[in-house]
Amino acid sequence: MNPPLAAAWQALDAHAQALRGQSLRDLFAADATRFSRHSLHVGELLFDYSKQWVTDETLVLLDNLAQAADVAGWRERMFAGEKINESEGRAVLHVALRQRGDAPVLVDGVDVIPEVRATRARMRKFCEAVRSGQWRGYSGEPIRTVVNLGIGGSDLGPRMVTAALNAIGHPTLAIHYVANLDAADIAPTLEALDPRTTLFIVASKTFTTIETLTNAATAREWLLANADATGDNPKLRQLALARQFVAVSASPQTAIDFGVNPEMIFGFADWVGGRFSLWSAVGLPLALAIGMDAFERLLDGAAAMDEHFRSAPTRQNLPLMMALLGVWNSSVRGAGAYALVPYSQSLRLLPDYLQQLEMESNGKSIGRDGEPLARPAAPVLWGNAGTNAQHAWFQLLHQGGRLLPVDFIAIAESDYPLPDHHERLLANCFAQSEALAFGNPDAEPAYRRCPGNQPSSTFVLPRLDPYHLGLLLAAYEHKTLAQGVIWGINPFDQWGVELGKKLAQRLLPAIEGGALPAGSDSSTGGLIAHCRAVRAR
Ligand code: F6P
Repeated sequence: MNPPLAAAWQALDAHAQALRGQSLRDLFAADATRFSRHSLHVGELLFDYSKQWVTDETLVLLDNLAQAADVAGWRERMFAGEKINESEGRAVLHVALRQRGDAPVLVDGVDVIPEVRATRARMRKFCEAVRSGQWRGYSGEPIRTVVNLGIGGSDLGPRMVTAALNAIGHPTLAIHYVANLDAADIAPTLEALDPRTTLFIVASKTFTTIETLTNAATAREWLLANADATGDNPKLRQLALARQFVAVSASPQTAIDFGVNPEMIFGFADWVGGRFSLWSAVGLPLALAIGMDAFERLLDGAAAMDEHFRSAPTRQNLPLMMALLGVWNSSVRGAGAYALVPYSQSLRLLPDYLQQLEMESNGKSIGRDGEPLARPAAPVLWGNAGTNAQHAWFQLLHQGGRLLPVDFIAIAESDYPLPDHHERLLANCFAQSEALAFGNPDAEPAYRRCPGNQPSSTFVLPRLDPYHLGLLLAAYEHKTLAQGVIWGINPFDQWGVELGKKLAQRLLPAIEGGALPAGSDSSTGGLIAHCRAVRAR
């Protein structure tokens, strides 16, 4: 570790020791302006971090850490298209997908912007044809249902935003997402659908992912068997495949080999990481749901956050402050987990999406230099929508005795304005951060006591529209980059998921009835033998 970086960490450790004994009550009592001095705005988005256990000195020391780690340098290398994903030899340019001007972005000397624009123009044309009912299936009927088949980054982003923006979704076009290898995902979905009016999107960056290919094969079989029930009309089969089977992939040839019509493939480049791919053609099911204009507004919001991240000074820089507060909590104070609680039913899937973004990116313990990290990096992220979460696991936040920071997300105006609901929802959100911060440490008897000092940040979006959602999501993306840089990690690879995939391939023949691979442990062998016996009964 470079000496300034080591010194910055040590200074934070010493500072945390010195702060011991200061409660959040003390910090608020000492400064009536704490909220205004420890909150920031990006346009109409408010970020309040005054309930974090930090002082001005903490923020100076955290800024020193960011500088010693050269967050600004890595940020600019990313925007410039340098191959900062070193282990895969790739640039990291999800930001190019939402760049608003035509300024060239070069990868290996080639400007990638014209291709990005061309794909979006094709998406627009296709979305308009499907949404208006002009696009017809094999029977001549318009499309009424879209099923996205993808997993991980090829599922979570569009699935989450489709749910988040349901209030502006197409009134009659239904969008389904199927991800799991378990037939219990696709089987009931297909049961409820009409093959004449269903469009499938197979979304896979690599087009090798076993879950997606298995679901795609099942969907193709279902579509073709229904299109040509008598088995003597190959023209109908061709038509069904050509008009109702779309692929989104960075590996178009593999999609063609699978049988997808080359004209029905929407591509993206290998410099788009799976968990950063919402902004690419992977967003197609979402664009079908909300329309291309609204999809562009999502990109506008993300682009505004890109600009903010590049230009705002540290104390005003939302993603950087999110990153630094997270590092402070997890790597200095030792929080092994943090909760994300959107007080918005529409954002109920946000924790799932951010789990992949943060945990697949920074859930690592080997640095870019190949050495083990000196301190733990990404905490576990979990969460679900408030107020549901309050009635399930908030008890542990209040009295469980563990340091468990929280990100609260509130929306000032409801996307479903019914009397009474939203005011009560907001009251609950703000009451929870208040209770966590200050507790009731003097309550009697002792079992009623909440000690307080549970840190939290609160985001307030003016409303849940595409622009502000884009702004928020891009903030979490840049937070992830900044944290990866500070921890010395490459946030853009995911080698940890490979081993399990390989082992599953190796075990499959044994589950199907073949011999157990040589050298298998007794637990794995025992589990397989047990399932085989149960299945043979
Ligand atoms: O196994 C993890 C992963 O590679 C994720 O990073 C990715 O988002 C997901 O699988 C799906 O990959 P693909 O889009 O190539 O099917």
